[in-house]
Amino acid sequence: MAAAIEVRDARPDDAAALVTLWGEMSTGTGHQRVLPTPTPESVRASIARLDDDPAGRLVVGELDGRVSAMVYLRRTPISPLHPEDTMTVEYLHVTDHARRHGLGKALVAEAAAWAEHESCPYLGVVAPSIAREANRFLARLGLSQAAVLRFAGTHAVRRRLAADHAPNLLAMLSSRRSVIARRAQLGRHPELTFQAEPEPDVTVPAEPGSAGT
Ligand SMILES: CC(C)(COP(=O)(O)OP(=O)(O)OC[C@H]1O[C@@H](n2cnc3c(N)ncnc32)[C@H](O)[C@@H]1OP(=O)(O)O)[C@@H](O)C(=O)NCCC(=O)NCCS
Repeated sequence: MAAAIEVRDARPDDAAALVTLWGEMSTGTGHQRVLPTPTPESVRASIARLDDDPAGRLVVGELDGRVSAMVYLRRTPISPLHPEDTMTVEYLHVTDHARRHGLGKALVAEAAAWAEHESCPYLGVVAPSIAREANRFLARLGLSQAAVLRFAGTHAVRRRLAADHAPNLLAMLSSRRSVIARRAQLGRHPELTFQAEPEPDVTVPAEPGSAGT
């Protein structure tokens, strides 16, 4: 008899199963390896937050009554210059023993159904570039590679920028931080008026000889 598959939104009592699924994913190849492991409490808080978010869903897949798969769906603008939204599919994962029973396709089908319901003409799936099986699975569903997601902690990138021996770049970063903080403050107190601080002169270093090669 074929295994019973159910797809539904995550509930607070799925927290332990979701932590396990996350643990499996983070031993794999994706950018989730860099993120701290969630706790059942933080997962329950995230599920409560998503309950109030009309643009995001955490969906689980059950195989014979056991939570064995997850996916995070997000409706986001396709670009800053187009009016359409795209459905972004992230953290798609089916536990090892539950694969090849149709859960993966059932979760992508849920993403496509929600995309249609939300009038999203596009669907994008984030998958680690070196996950060959997953990429073959997605290619067979008509999804072609469109981008590479590079991921790092903000501080790590700032440290690298600082190491580039560009003192005026650091001055610019610090000035941008105060402008952003001022904007956020104005958002909360619109009676104040915004005055941008003068930005430091920034000299762009000459292009290295290897640029573009
Ligand atoms: C990629 C992944 C999501 C696929 O999940 P899955 O549950 O195995 O997917 P499905 O069972 O729906 O489909 C897988 C294959 O099994 C086949 N299949 C489905 N039910 C089957 C059954 N009862 N018997 C035999 N084969 C079956 C499907 O037809 C499909 O074959 P195809 O790709 O040639 O069409 C899963 O392998 C995974 O989580 N991989 C690791 C995580 C990862 O890298 N994620 C990155 C984001 S994609």
